Amino acid sequence: SDPDLVARAAAAKAALGTKVFVLGHHYQRDEVIQFADVTGDSFKLAREAAARPDAEYIVFCGVHFMAESADILTSDAQKVILPDLAAGCSMADMAVLSQVETAWDVLTELGVAADTVPVTYMNSSADIKGFVGRNGGVVCTSSNAKRALDWAFEQGSKVLFLPDQHLGRNTAVLEMGFSLDDCVLYDPHKPNGGLTAEQLRDAKMILWRGHCSVHGRFTLDSVNDVRERVPGVNVLVHPECRHEVVTAADQVGSTEYIIKTIEAAPAGSAWAVGTELNLVRRLALAHPDKQIMFLDKAVCYCSTMNRIDLPHLVWALEELVAGRVVNQITVDPDTAHHARVALDQMLALPG
Ligand code: 13P
Ligand code: SF4
Repeated sequence: SDPDLVARAAAAKAALGTKVFVLGHHYQRDEVIQFADVTGDSFKLAREAAARPDAEYIVFCGVHFMAESADILTSDAQKVILPDLAAGCSMADMAVLSQVETAWDVLTELGVAADTVPVTYMNSSADIKGFVGRNGGVVCTSSNAKRALDWAFEQGSKVLFLPDQHLGRNTAVLEMGFSLDDCVLYDPHKPNGGLTAEQLRDAKMILWRGHCSVHGRFTLDSVNDVRERVPGVNVLVHPECRHEVVTAADQVGSTEYIIKTIEAAPAGSAWAVGTELNLVRRLALAHPDKQIMFLDKAVCYCSTMNRIDLPHLVWALEELVAGRVVNQITVDPDTAHHARVALDQMLALPG
């Protein structure tokens, strides 16, 4: 990265001292991650944001829904900054509040809403988390989806899982003993989600038709190809991957799990990793004694995570030094209150 920008970022951080706390998601660029006070997956970063009451400014190097969650979990006096407002998430955009309210109306008319617990993946807007909090549900991340679903099935007999169909299906089928037939796919663009009343009544898991455009690109062919090319390779994937990819893989887990697994792997072992490329490249560099490769032949960055680059980070930090807060992310108090209920429920899950 540009040495001048590196020096400016370091100087701005030094000038701000403990007033600023920089959080970096594992999918961030190297040039940005070097300035993170803490790195993590979305669960760890949510906990870190909540645990920093002294930091006046939280600079969130990640995407919009993560910055919103940080704003909800921090005090009113703390300001959360997203260095580029265009850093959204295509998956989070796949569930819009009005669509979810329509789906809930459908379930209400069928008489099953009262027994349905809404569960939303962290990768959703504050509006959706607010809806979930208002309706007795919980937020989950890829680190705790099973625990969140176990809790949800203690509260009701059916779950509406938002917005990632893959995390919902993979967790229910591969970790909880549900069958594929227990899951139905609700398409918000079709009347009644494209489902019959009977399907909606019988389903245990109503999966929202959302997915991650990055993890969704890995296919069964990617797994078969790498097994052919690299005999003995271990295939390690994120649960946002398609069901057939996760089923064919050797191990599945959140980004934190992926990192720990690679760290614990014996020297000489070979790993094909199905997650975002910035993380896989860093893992490969950090473990030259192991053969770490990207699961697919094509490159696969998250384009919105990559929006946060060093020029944007320097700009946000230097503006803070000058006493100006740019790109602050705020959630309205009513939404924040209800979203916080669902986030606190997640943070209180056992284990
Ligand atoms: P985790 O950080 O929970 O592993 O999720 C991955 C992701 O896609 C974040 O946007
Ligand atoms: Fe969203 Fe996928 Fe990018 Fe994560 S990796 S921010 S889920 S598009």
